[in-house]
Amino acid sequence: MLGGGGFRVPLVHASLLADPDRLVDELVLYDVGPERLAAIGAVLDQQAAGAPWRPRIVTTTSLDEALSDVDMVFSAIRVGGLDGRSLDERVPLRHGLIGQETVGPGGVCYALRTVPVALEIAETVARRAPGAWVINFTNPAGVVTEAMSAVLGDRVVGICDSPVGLCRRVAAALDVDAERASFDYVGLNHLGWLRRVLVDGRDVLPGLFGSPALTSFEEGKLFGERWLRTLGAVPNEYLHYYYFARETLAQMHAQDSTRGEFLREQQRAFYTDAVREPESALRRWQDTRSERERSYLAEGRAVAGAGERDSCDTDGGGYEEVALRLMNAIAGNRDASLILNVRNRGAVAGLDDDAVVEVPCVVNGNGPRALAVGEVRPAELGLMLRVKGVERATIEAAVSRSRSAALFALGSHPLVDSVAAAERVLDDYVAAFPELADLAP
Ligand code: G6P
Ligand code: MN
Repeated sequence: MLGGGGFRVPLVHASLLADPDRLVDELVLYDVGPERLAAIGAVLDQQAAGAPWRPRIVTTTSLDEALSDVDMVFSAIRVGGLDGRSLDERVPLRHGLIGQETVGPGGVCYALRTVPVALEIAETVARRAPGAWVINFTNPAGVVTEAMSAVLGDRVVGICDSPVGLCRRVAAALDVDAERASFDYVGLNHLGWLRRVLVDGRDVLPGLFGSPALTSFEEGKLFGERWLRTLGAVPNEYLHYYYFARETLAQMHAQDSTRGEFLREQQRAFYTDAVREPESALRRWQDTRSERERSYLAEGRAVAGAGERDSCDTDGGGYEEVALRLMNAIAGNRDASLILNVRNRGAVAGLDDDAVVEVPCVVNGNGPRALAVGEVRPAELGLMLRVKGVERATIEAAVSRSRSAALFALGSHPLVDSVAAAERVLDDYVAAFPELADLAP
């Protein structure tokens, strides 16, 4: 696990402890911060206390060491840490634009910093562990996966917990067994739509639009019944930043701190306390985590009047569940259906073969295979194409250190309403991050 000192590592560890197949015998945690590794290590030790079995845990700050003799690589790093995230949010806001870490101008800048590091990782994997599969959690996951796929081809797979959460919540609202249903989902990472839910070959989703259950779950509360009926599909929660851009921006301006700033304070307390008092690290982690879960997507919830997040909206596991199912399907050569970020190869007509898209896949020992999704309406396809153009320019800017590609990425983003503002944002970012200095005018 790259980013092994990260706050979500205990989630993955817990799912390994509960795995009846005991698939993972050794877990190597790599991180650039040794004190983060120590804190998370303490949480994992307490998680494993009393468990009938646990994987061997190794911690290291050497990437080469971490990548020797491994079958699976999880990459969940945050380049620049939460200080970086706070700037990804704060800089666009200063210029009157949505301040979000993965969506909009913040996502572009976060990718500008992350892609070079992700490519270095990809090259190290290709050298040290050429047979390994890479499961990429690193955000912005779609862009980072696409950049890494230039080196690793189909052996890098991007994952996200939002589509699986959406499908599970919709299935519950419809009162259907998610295991028996097929979910017709299409999009890019953090930009997708659930269009149909098939049970016994019949689409049962239309039934939800006429039902009071429509506003009983996360996405229903965020988007509201009228917009969901109008769309005839259920959007990924991240589309709230698009459909309610103006209200969300006003809300962001009204708040004292951004999400990153909030999490930075919260986690500073967790990491220092966990190192000082390892006996209570697990309890502190649980408290910190539940506070984080409750306040998730705070701006959107404030705009929609949705209140804190319900625990039933998060039940059932998030990205750790996707990760374990993906790993089990590959290692055990057992078919699984999962929504993943993979190369398009014809799944979505209108996007080229190498474009990474987020679509339903069948996974087995040969990795994931994207299923053809059929026609996508112009409104949704158009948005996907526009954002893919932004992603491509971002990768180009990061790889060839091109200011003009960076400016094109920011200036043509659908959430940026002025190229003059885009240029100011770029200059502000470049001044904040030394590693972006060669993008200065
Ligand atoms: C969801 C998304 C992740 C993202 C996270 C942010 O889980 O799928 O890609 O990292 O939300 O949550 P946070 O608590 O960090 O704001
Ligand atoms: Mn995600």
